[in-house]
Amino acid sequence: MRFFCCLIFLSCIFVKNSFANNNNNYILCTSHCSDVRLSFVQPLTFPEECQNNNTVTNIQAYALACIIEYRINYDFEDINIKFQASNDTNIFEDRKPSEYLTQEIRLDLKKHRTQSNEVTRIYRCNSKNDCARDFYLNTIYDLVNDGQKQLNKIKGKLYTTKAVIGESSKRHCIDNNLTGTKTSELCGYGLCFVRQKNYTLNQERTEKQQKCYLEENSPSLFSSIEYHAPKPNENDNELLEYKCNKHVCNRNEMILIIQELINQYTRWNPIEETIPVEEKKASSSMKQTISSYIVVLFLILIQLFF
Ligand SMILES: *[C@@H]1O[C@H](CO)[C@@H](O)[C@H](O)[C@H]1NC(C)=O
Ligand SMILES: *[C@@H]1O[C@H](CO)[C@@H](O)[C@H](O)[C@H]1NC(C)=O
Ligand SMILES: *[C@@H]1O[C@H](CO)[C@@H](O)[C@H](O)[C@H]1NC(C)=O
Ligand SMILES: *[C@@H]1O[C@H](CO)[C@@H](O)[C@H](O)[C@H]1NC(C)=O
Repeated sequence: MRFFCCLIFLSCIFVKNSFANNNNNYILCTSHCSDVRLSFVQPLTFPEECQNNNTVTNIQAYALACIIEYRINYDFEDINIKFQASNDTNIFEDRKPSEYLTQEIRLDLKKHRTQSNEVTRIYRCNSKNDCARDFYLNTIYDLVNDGQKQLNKIKGKLYTTKAVIGESSKRHCIDNNLTGTKTSELCGYGLCFVRQKNYTLNQERTEKQQKCYLEENSPSLFSSIEYHAPKPNENDNELLEYKCNKHVCNRNEMILIIQELINQYTRWNPIEETIPVEEKKASSSMKQTISSYIVVLFLILIQLFF
């Protein structure tokens, strides 16, 4: 009888041990507060229901990843924010610390207000307590105060109010489907178009289409990025698509300039890359967990036999 008790006690220790290991991965994330709207005037001040106030309610939850989603509207000059906590960490590939940013920029290239100059970001991380909230607080000031300037630079490169449309227009656009020595074509009735996608599938790849776009003539830009850290990560990708009305504004050099302006806007500055150390740690804790389960199973078997 004493023998059994001893075995059960031992099993308990091993089970507890393996759970303790898992618990190390949990972080606290702001999540129990409703969607927030902040103005450009005070982008750093969350309302009281999103301030941690343990005496009233606890707005934080334990989770494996913190998430923040925010939409910056440069026409309304406001930011809409949503906090989340998640136990789904597939995107992190079991690496810690890890982070992941997606960003979409939508611009109407015309200068007047059209309610369509908007940037949406989703940021996920597992590095430390409330890492997503910190990321927002560390990045929003520049996005609000310098962001508009950067976006206006992009508009200035791609759009002019003096463009001539029709018969007398001399606007040319690059068409990368042209063969021979000719690389551009007259595009008096349309806009220059480019769609470039960079992604990784075993190796870095690019798809690029440049042409005169005739179907619709509202100049606009769409950029989407997905950046992960640590690298390498097969899911990293970038898409840039725009329709512009300046002479050959879809040429390769201009695409590079626009990409650079978007990089300056984004200022992606990932956390330290510590893959080798972290991978070892992860796999050893995994091994420990598995081995403790095996020991428990073994002990149960012994108990059954005696
Ligand atoms: C916490 O909430 C109470 C009740 O709403 C309020 O009186 C107090 O000032 C709050 N504390 C902080 C630090 O926000
Ligand atoms: C994640 O899992 C832990 C342990 O099961 C649980 O306590 C926590 O509430 C979960 N968090 C979320 C956001 O679901
Ligand atoms: C490019 O040219 C090829 C061959 O001439 C044609 O099949 C294809 O549809 C063209 N693509 C575009 C986007 O015009
Ligand atoms: C996308 O791919 C093109 C062509 O390989 C390259 O010139 C460009 O620098 C890439 N962009 C980024 C941001 O990696």
